[in-house]
Amino acid sequence: MAKTLNEIRTTFLKYFEKNGHTIVESSNLVPNNDPTLMFANSGMVQFKNVFTGLEKRDYVRATTSQKCVRAGGKHNDLENVGYTPRHHTFFEMLGNFSFGDYFKDRAIELAWNLVTKDFGIHKNRLYVTVFNEDDEAFNFWKKITGLSDDRIIRIPTSDNFWSMGETGPCGPCSEIFFDHGDKLKGGLPGTKDQDGDRYIEIWNLVFMQFEQISKDKRIDLPKPSVDTGMGLERIAALLQGTHDNYKTDHFQKIINATAEAVKKNQIKIIFQVLE
Ligand code: ALA
Repeated sequence: MAKTLNEIRTTFLKYFEKNGHTIVESSNLVPNNDPTLMFANSGMVQFKNVFTGLEKRDYVRATTSQKCVRAGGKHNDLENVGYTPRHHTFFEMLGNFSFGDYFKDRAIELAWNLVTKDFGIHKNRLYVTVFNEDDEAFNFWKKITGLSDDRIIRIPTSDNFWSMGETGPCGPCSEIFFDHGDKLKGGLPGTKDQDGDRYIEIWNLVFMQFEQISKDKRIDLPKPSVDTGMGLERIAALLQGTHDNYKTDHFQKIINATAEAVKKNQIKIIFQVLE
């Protein structure tokens, strides 16, 4: 079973490749062709024009591990950094994408099989959310996963309607949550204690259906599509048996190398260790 952060990234990408997705390189952190964003804030940014139909690629399914920064704009994690063990300004987002190919049911099935089979996470530790009005997603979750109704939580807020920014592709979403157990404080999604450390979001499945053109104008995408995002450092923590991203193999390497370098006054050691 995948254990190190690098192995987990490979497991994710290979799983989707095996299921007909093309592995695509992360784009630059600073998007080449998007004046609406300073930094890529999620995996879908490099595919924005593919979702809206402006650009064609020679594949309809893709998977990436995208370098992201969330330190401003619509998706800003800055206030959480240092206060939770799971937020970073810079992180990698694992994702799978369908450009007018599969939609809700296959996206749910693919995600569920990876999480419960390949990653071996027990169903009893999992909850999912759906956008309040999305009965279709609710019914697919129930049918595909066998989760009981109380584990499929309806959320009426923008937490379950994802958009890239003020404009761009958007749609209702479903999130998968992991329960770290009662040793940690926190409530289920939708409750007042939802921001605690106990129940944490591990994967967001966006059912891309619309394009926000302006504040008051939203149109349909040419075809319903899928965009998902899973924080690599967060899933690595979970699979390494901790809720603290800074305790994972990757961060420990960086922290130990930094400590060593500071002790010896040799900052270049950090780069040697990371090679
Ligand atoms: N684009 C979606 C997100 O960032 C998957 O959560």
